[in-house]
Amino acid sequence: MMENCALNGFYSPAQRTRFLQAVGHRFSVRTYSGEADPAKLSALYYAAERVALPGVRLVIEKCEEHKLYKKLPGVPAVSGTGQYAAVIADMSHPYARYHAGISGEAFVLEAVSLELGTCWIGSFKKSGVHIELKKNEAVLAIIPFGTYDSDMTPRKRKKLTDICSQDPAQWPLWAYNAAECVRNAPSAVNLQPWHMSYAGRTLMLEKKGLGTRLDMGIALLHMSLGVGEKEHIIRWEEGKNVASLLAEDRIL
Ligand SMILES: Cc1cc2nc3c(=O)[nH]c(=O)nc-3n(C[C@H](O)[C@H](O)[C@H](O)COP(=O)(O)O)c2cc1C
Repeated sequence: MMENCALNGFYSPAQRTRFLQAVGHRFSVRTYSGEADPAKLSALYYAAERVALPGVRLVIEKCEEHKLYKKLPGVPAVSGTGQYAAVIADMSHPYARYHAGISGEAFVLEAVSLELGTCWIGSFKKSGVHIELKKNEAVLAIIPFGTYDSDMTPRKRKKLTDICSQDPAQWPLWAYNAAECVRNAPSAVNLQPWHMSYAGRTLMLEKKGLGTRLDMGIALLHMSLGVGEKEHIIRWEEGKNVASLLAEDRIL
């Protein structure tokens, strides 16, 4: 039997409800109109402390934008806010990168529920981060946040049937909802490197192509949130299979 994921039972029902509501409103914001006010900022300091899984630290910092953000093809560089959270992982932890994806996305969804914009940034100037790291720690990504004026642009997403082995319309509703929630997840370069299949009350999450463990951690949090209040257990798998999620009506 594969190892249970630390995500099981980690977030409270109230947090999960809040995160799930935020999933539908989240989109990457790169042009900000200002910084989070002190009340929202202190809510985020609190969130940063409590949403991080073992092996992960989320540290809120200020930066000078031009020293941290790069201009990438097709997307503007982040501007308009100096506030960001660094996603720091202890690389000696066996699930460091997955846990970093889960924890960072939980932080993103907390910020979205405060009506703030966010964007995962994997490509940044490392020299612009001034946080003292402990042995084995690395900054895997940064997440700027702040206020914004722009409207949500329509999501560029693969069809559900393109990221699932069978037609998810034939699956139980919880599995369908979980797959749809993964579909809304952010991923580096919008690769959407996920694949899901359903059999024996179990939804399997598989990595496709150039996806990273960070991407897959984010997807796994979304998969779990999509299940809603239904009791479920997540186990790590091996190889291309990242994790399985078992849900059934009777008590597990
Ligand atoms: C791990 C990760 C790294 C990312 N790195 C960058 C980045 O360096 N620069 C950037 O502009 N966007 C970055 N993004 C944002 C993605 O481009 C974005 O999530 C994707 O295009 C989907 O759009 P959406 O977030 O609006 O749904 C990253 C996203 C993830 C999950």
